[in-house]
Amino acid sequence: MTALVSIRNLTKTYQRGPEKVEVLHGIDLEIPDGDFVSLMGPSGSGKTTLLNLIGGLDSPSGGEIEVEGERIDRMSGGQLSNWRSQNVGYVFQFYNLMPTLTAQKNVELPLLLTRLSAADRKRRAEIALQLVGLADRGKHKPNELSGGQQQRVAIARAIVSDPRLLICDEPTGDLDRQSAEEILGLLQLLNREHGKTIVMVTHDPKAAEYATHSLHLDKGTLVEQVRNVA
Ligand SMILES: Nc1ncnc2c1ncn2[C@@H]1O[C@H](COP(=O)(O)OP(=O)(O)O)[C@@H](O)[C@H]1O
Ligand SMILES: [Mg+2]
Repeated sequence: MTALVSIRNLTKTYQRGPEKVEVLHGIDLEIPDGDFVSLMGPSGSGKTTLLNLIGGLDSPSGGEIEVEGERIDRMSGGQLSNWRSQNVGYVFQFYNLMPTLTAQKNVELPLLLTRLSAADRKRRAEIALQLVGLADRGKHKPNELSGGQQQRVAIARAIVSDPRLLICDEPTGDLDRQSAEEILGLLQLLNREHGKTIVMVTHDPKAAEYATHSLHLDKGTLVEQVRNVA
């Protein structure tokens, strides 16, 4: 399998007051196309930092990140945001939906950056909502939906532009066990049936079992890589 993401000697340093603190210390990592990777590790070990670098939400201090053959570490801010809108979907712990918009309009949001007509945007969002099992909830606002349903809307929004890569930061961290399992099952379906490559940060060893591949970060260093038995 070819690598979708190739990372070499990646470092990230934050400025904390007068001090520079290195939080990722020379990460090397290849993520094959079609993988579902879980990323675990103690709080503060750099999981979100690494995830945001892979998803182009932040830029590294050193090293290389290549995604689908493109060196995203070399892109300017404008190039990177354009790249993100076409190649990556994001799912966060607290859903990050717009509270004043319906589920349908939330899912349409990423498409406002494209040249699609209003009718095409509507149709695509309907398909995405159908895929996450919420075809009948398009007119509901986030506060009229359960946590699990809100996360499914967020997943519909993440896939509506048909990105290759999904970046998920503790997507089940705020959910009860049953809703969490539904979300994990949905991510697994997107990986297996729709070919999405997924990188998911989680604290939950049960969630990590849904992945094809598990990574562990400790104090900014990758300490373990396990290929799960399918
Ligand atoms: N924007 C920032 N500025 C300064 N320090 C940060 C910033 N973001 C994260 N950090 C620090 O980097 C380390 C790793 O953070 P993070 O990647 O969020 O860890 P995790 O997701 O594993 O809990 C922590 O010590 C955190 O305090
Ligand atoms: Mg984090």
